[in-house]
Parts: sequence; C-alpha cells; structure tokens
Amino acid sequence: MEFIKVKTYAELSKRAADIILGQIRRKPDSVLGLATGSTPIGTYEELIRAYDDGRADFSKVRTVNLDEYCGLSEKDEQSYRCFMNTYLFDHINIDKANTNVPNGMAADPEEECRRYDAVISSAGGIDLQLLGIGVNGHIGFNEPSDKFTEGTHIVTLDERTRNSNSRFFKSLDEVPRKAVTVGIGTIMSSGKILLLANGESKKAIVEKAIYGEITPRVPASILQKHGDLTVIFSEE
Ligand code: GLP
Repeated sequence: MEFIKVKTYAELSKRAADIILGQIRRKPDSVLGLATGSTPIGTYEELIRAYDDGRADFSKVRTVNLDEYCGLSEKDEQSYRCFMNTYLFDHINIDKANTNVPNGMAADPEEECRRYDAVISSAGGIDLQLLGIGVNGHIGFNEPSDKFTEGTHIVTLDERTRNSNSRFFKSLDEVPRKAVTVGIGTIMSSGKILLLANGESKKAIVEKAIYGEITPRVPASILQKHGDLTVIFSEE
C-alpha cells in the first residue's frame, strides 16, 4: 500500500488525476471504476483541465460507476448519473455509450444487479477503481454489515449515510432508503485501487480502515488485502 499524505485538497486532486491520466496513457481503452461524493469533484476538474489542455484523450475510455440511489432517475439532480454527467462526462470527449451507472429505476432491481455484473465482466473487469470513503467506512454503498459482499446488490442505507448525504437533498426525508452498489468482491478484483479522503472528519475512519482490524463492520478495511492500493489523504 502507498499512503500519500498531502496538505491541501487541490494537491490531493492533482495527485489523483495524475494517477488516472497515467493509467489512460498506458492503456487508452482503460476501464475506470468511478465514484461520486464531494471528494472526487476536484479530481474530475483536473481531468477536465487535462482534456482542455490537450493532455488527455478519453475517446476509448470505458467507465463503470460504483452505485446509484434506488428510485432516482437520471433526470433527478441528486442521481449519480446526473452527478457524473455534470461533473465529468459532459466536459470531456468520452462516448456516453461507454459510461455505465446502475439504473436506479429498474423495474426489477435484482435483474439490474445481474445486468450490471455482466457489464463489468464483459468489459474485462476494472483496471483502476477510484474510491471515496463514507464516515462509517463504506465504499460505494457497501455499508457496515456481518459479511463482505461479492457482486452488485441492493442495500438499505445506513442512517449515518443518509444523514451525511442529506446535505445534497432538500431534507432528510428525500434521501432514498435503498441503493444499488457494486460489491466488495468486484472492487477487490480491480487492477489498481485509488482511495481518496480529505479533511478531519475522515481522519479517524481512514486510520481505522487502513491500519485497523479487517472486518465487514468497516467495509473499507478489506482494501488492506489489495496488492495495489494507493491512499491519498489531505489534511485540509
Ligand atoms: C456516497 C457515495 C460513496 C462516497 C461517499 C463519501 O455515500 N456512495 O461512494 O465515497 O458518499 O462522500 P464524500 O466524498 O462526499 O464524503
């Protein structure tokens, strides 16, 4: 594991974007596992800047997002599909047909999970997985539980997660109770994992995840077992 501690969020974003750009240069048709949340926004801004400056070509890149709220359509501003379009896809030369986010509106959610797993395996798996971390140690929407999950599945969101994510909604009531997320098994099968965390509020959980006991009660702790994990933490 490589632990990179930086001072500012800007530095975190630059370091993360450089790693992603390096991956795309090495393999132009890379499959990127992408994350939402406030943490990767600066990284996405850096990727857009690289594209604007002619330093990056996303034309062959394929992406697979980690998760989506159940019951939100892509037109809903709080949906993760909308987030990805707004913060990244609408600003770079990626083919939207090559971008994947689980469908939170699927009539049969279990079928949607199987479809999403098939999308990931037919893409040949994820080359580089970008991750944020929830205050309770969740990755994607893999909440603390009794066992680590394998493939894509439906989760009931933890109250701490709903509270923390309510800042993006008009009220706590509007925060969906369920979500679809790729499993821990899928995340662990990625070639490389890049975990980003910034600020005091994430310090304790990052330490617990990276140096503490490996337990499904702290889902991110499983990352200790990955052979190519980079953690970038900013103090800001
Ligand atoms: C959501 C996402 C996670 C993300 C987490 C942290 O719950 N499902 O993938 O890591 O938020 O968000 P933030 O970066 O805003 O702290």
